Amino acid sequence: MSAVEQDGLDSFPRDRQPTVRILAMPAHTNPSGKIFGGWIMAQMDVAGGIVALEYAGGPVVTVAVTSMKFHRPVNVGDLVSCFARIQKVGSTSITVKVEVFAQRAHDGTLQSAKVTEAVIVYVAVNSDGAPRKLPEREPDFGQYW
Ligand SMILES: CC(C)(COP(=O)(O)OP(=O)(O)OC[C@H]1O[C@@H](n2cnc3c(N)ncnc32)[C@H](O)[C@@H]1OP(=O)(O)O)[C@@H](O)C(=O)NCCC(=O)NCCS
Repeated sequence: MSAVEQDGLDSFPRDRQPTVRILAMPAHTNPSGKIFGGWIMAQMDVAGGIVALEYAGGPVVTVAVTSMKFHRPVNVGDLVSCFARIQKVGSTSITVKVEVFAQRAHDGTLQSAKVTEAVIVYVAVNSDGAPRKLPEREPDFGQYW
């Protein structure tokens, strides 16, 4: 841990690559001045969709969010990182766990906390939008397992 960056409530997962990283802007606030949960969910859906698309090698659609928990609020100015990892692959569906960490500047350091997590299911589709069989992949495909 460097002098200018230290972990806060939860250790930032430095051994993993975030799929989406974005700064929380004032335009995304709710009436309480915190970041709107729907905006965070959209970033999570993008992150999960990226790893599902890479696995599927083609388009995917979101079919279900089987769990979602907001642990802590996100503030304007927080650096939001979505870590997406494939949990399960079916015949046409890919289940992805997405964990979101916020990093917040405080007295010259960055403190981190896990703010949200969800499990999202994607389905690979063909050009008609119907479910498409997933290709065979090795269990260690990509960096996402
Ligand atoms: C996704 C869609 C193509 C699935 O079509 P469908 O005829 O319902 O397909 P199936 O019932 O065969 O289900 C397909 C897969 O999804 C899984 N699935 C379907 N509903 C699910 C749910 N509620 N939770 C978890 N998995 C689900 C099935 O288990 C199946 O997985 P498998 O093939 O790996 O066993 C169709 O429901 C659809 O187009 N939905 C709208 C998608 C959309 O617009 N999303 C928002 C924008 S991306």
